[in-house]
Amino acid sequence: MRTLLLAATLVALAGMPASANDQALLKDARDYFKPIPSIVPAVKDNAVTREKVELGKMLFFDPRVSASHLISCNTCHNLSMGGDDNLETSIGHGWAKGPRNAPTVLNAVFNKAQFWDGRAADLKAQAKGPIQAGVEMNNTPKVVEETLRSIPAYVTKFKTAFPNQTQPVTFDNLAMAIEAFEATLITPASRFDQFLEGNVTALNATEKEGLRLFMDKGCVACHQGVNLGGEEYYPFGVVEKPGATILPEKDRGRFEVTKTADADYVFRAGPLRNIALTAPYFHSGKVWDLKQAVAVMATSQLGAKLTDKEIDAITAFLVSLTGEQPRVELPILPISTTETPMPK
Ligand code: HEM
Ligand code: HEM
Repeated sequence: MRTLLLAATLVALAGMPASANDQALLKDARDYFKPIPSIVPAVKDNAVTREKVELGKMLFFDPRVSASHLISCNTCHNLSMGGDDNLETSIGHGWAKGPRNAPTVLNAVFNKAQFWDGRAADLKAQAKGPIQAGVEMNNTPKVVEETLRSIPAYVTKFKTAFPNQTQPVTFDNLAMAIEAFEATLITPASRFDQFLEGNVTALNATEKEGLRLFMDKGCVACHQGVNLGGEEYYPFGVVEKPGATILPEKDRGRFEVTKTADADYVFRAGPLRNIALTAPYFHSGKVWDLKQAVAVMATSQLGAKLTDKEIDAITAFLVSLTGEQPRVELPILPISTTETPMPK
């Protein structure tokens, strides 16, 4: 009887028209945010074909892309752990510690530009960076090409993915294939997406309060769009610079890209999708607690001191941004041959 009553109440609640508050919240949210699409988005200048995605997945998981044959993209962008390494800053070739925290590859396809300072225009330009970076994979395009050309199954895969090319096994095509695979790494159907799509019961009261605060306090000025960030650049410390631990002096952000004074300590507003899965936070990776990251943002970017209750509500809202993680079947990689360059 009790179960019947509960079921009847739930049915009645689900059928209830949204309250005026909920309707206003939904309307305001739709002005700023867009849901993650449930289908793979188109990529500029790179048709996302099944063959490219399959090859790109192999390359993403293949450690032979690195000089040591030990480090793959998945080492630092672990798809079982939110698409990053959950380290303060990444560990790369020869145990080298890089200067910045690894952002997630999930939904990166929706960012306006890649890296904390936006120095790569898109994912195909981005993918060439870590392979050559001394503190990451420490390889060269020439050795990567030699490696892939020495493995017949890869030659066939490149030919199928890039038909009508006389020499399809190139570093550029590797980047195209990885970009195509990354375009599939999207996480739709978070509870926030369900809310945006009109299901006002998808968020609970605290999360709704958090969403309201996120918009009314001004976080939304910098964190909007599909990824709630990843679109524009702002000084870290618009109102008050965080201490040198969180904002290390030697990383001047976009200044290194543009060399103009107005880009000093300017960074891309962090995309906030799946943020609960990607601690630690900020380009320095110094903040492990999402609540603390919210509090830092409030003081540094808005000059606001939020109450604990407000911080809790905003954090609860941010947790609702965790979407369905891509189900990736581990690729079986073809074996090396006697022609394959040795690991270094
Ligand atoms: C940034 C993909 C290898 C560490 C990025 C971004 C993408 C990406 C898409 C930008 C995300 C964003 O801006 O939101 C890849 C691919 C790799 C690869 C496809 C393999 C070819 C690695 C490895 C490491 C690493 C092996 C660690 C040793 C990082 C770090 C950043 C980054 C630290 C941020 C760097 C900065 O902003 O200056 N990666 N990555 N990545 N990745 Fe990777
Ligand atoms: C980064 C939340 C307001 C610009 C972040 C991060 C979070 C966050 C959680 C870390 C992302 C990560 O590590 O992956 C918030 C909240 C806000 C707020 C809850 C309101 C209380 C703002 C505003 C601006 C802004 C108003 C622009 C004026 C940035 C930038 C970063 C960032 C530039 C990257 C910082 C870095 O270099 O590490 N935000 N944000 N945020 N946000 Fe905000």
